[in-house]
Amino acid sequence: MNRSIIQESGKQTPYYAYDISVLKQTIDRARVEANKYDYHIHYALKANSTEPIVREMLHAGFGVDCVSGQEMELALAQGFKSTQIAFAGVGKTDWEIDNAINSGIFTLNVESIEELIVIEERAKSLGKHANVALRINPDVNARTHHYITTGLEENKFGISSWMFDRLFETLGKCNHIEFKGLHFHIGSQIRDLEPFRNLCTRINHLQGVFIDHGYFPSHINAGGGLGVDYDDPDSSSNPDFEAFFGLFDTYLDLHPSQTLHFELGRSLVANCGDLISKIVFVKEGQKTNFLILDAGMTELIRPALYQAFHKIENIEAVSGVNYPYDVVGPICESSDCFGKAVMLPESRRGELVAIRSAGAYGECMANGYNMRTLNPSMFY
Ligand code: LLP
Repeated sequence: MNRSIIQESGKQTPYYAYDISVLKQTIDRARVEANKYDYHIHYALKANSTEPIVREMLHAGFGVDCVSGQEMELALAQGFKSTQIAFAGVGKTDWEIDNAINSGIFTLNVESIEELIVIEERAKSLGKHANVALRINPDVNARTHHYITTGLEENKFGISSWMFDRLFETLGKCNHIEFKGLHFHIGSQIRDLEPFRNLCTRINHLQGVFIDHGYFPSHINAGGGLGVDYDDPDSSSNPDFEAFFGLFDTYLDLHPSQTLHFELGRSLVANCGDLISKIVFVKEGQKTNFLILDAGMTELIRPALYQAFHKIENIEAVSGVNYPYDVVGPICESSDCFGKAVMLPESRRGELVAIRSAGAYGECMANGYNMRTLNPSMFY
């Protein structure tokens, strides 16, 4: 984060500020580590779909992972080739399926047998074939917040192994489906890499089952989920791409002709973005004073929704002495709180505060509650 650029801009707060040089460094580190093993990265557009960020992903040579027809349209409009697009989601509608088939995307990542049957019907009526990867629910615990855990039986995502008999029976009847690969995604903000190791073990077993039934996956898509260190946004080893890709090289049994794909979102974009806000009031409280900001859960919902931690910095404070503050927004909800008893230098009305590591799932999850609108972002 470049404080002086932010301070001198005089921009209307609150707004998102993105440091493109940080983004480029992160992309480069991911690319270098993935290239060691010829792995393919698809950027998970859902994490941040602002145009300058998406453009960097395109220039990096990454593909994209989309979860809506709108994201697919954006990816095509931005210049991604259809063959670079993976499209996941448990509830794809007919127009989304038709668009995906007509565009000839890399894969529709199919999440249920019911969806497979509809895709077969749509492809047949369009007189085409649909490229399909089956999203398998591996029943691996990602050990992250339960709202962003996706690879357990109880979750709505993917096809579970107890459904395989019916799956193979259905696949046998599908003449308009091209089986391309297997897709997995166990969750997000995974910092301890052990769950990924467990995922590799499960993939090794599960792909054997498909091969035994005559379905050879030409690619494996291991999804995303690599977490970032929200405590230390400025560390250059954050996140650890080397350990992440190295783990798959060690533990995943890839056949020589197979390619391995990843769908990284947060790990690529979290660190390049900050939410910049102004202190509206310093309100006296019983235990700690409140810093009331002009940004709230409408601009960044992660703390309210997942009890997520984001480092908070007063970037204009003059005093060196720290005090505890409850840092809150202006929204009429008690969950509109960015942090309790946050140690900050003595803070005053009008000073700028940065809420760090907000590049992923920040701006894209902003909403209009209380009729609020988001100010244009800054890219520098
Ligand atoms: N692939 C699939 C199928 C996904 O559902 C996701 C994220 C990703 C890849 C990218 O995961 P990442 O590398 O970013 O962890 N709003 C939440 C996170 C939701 C993640 C949804 N799926 C948050 O703010 O923490």
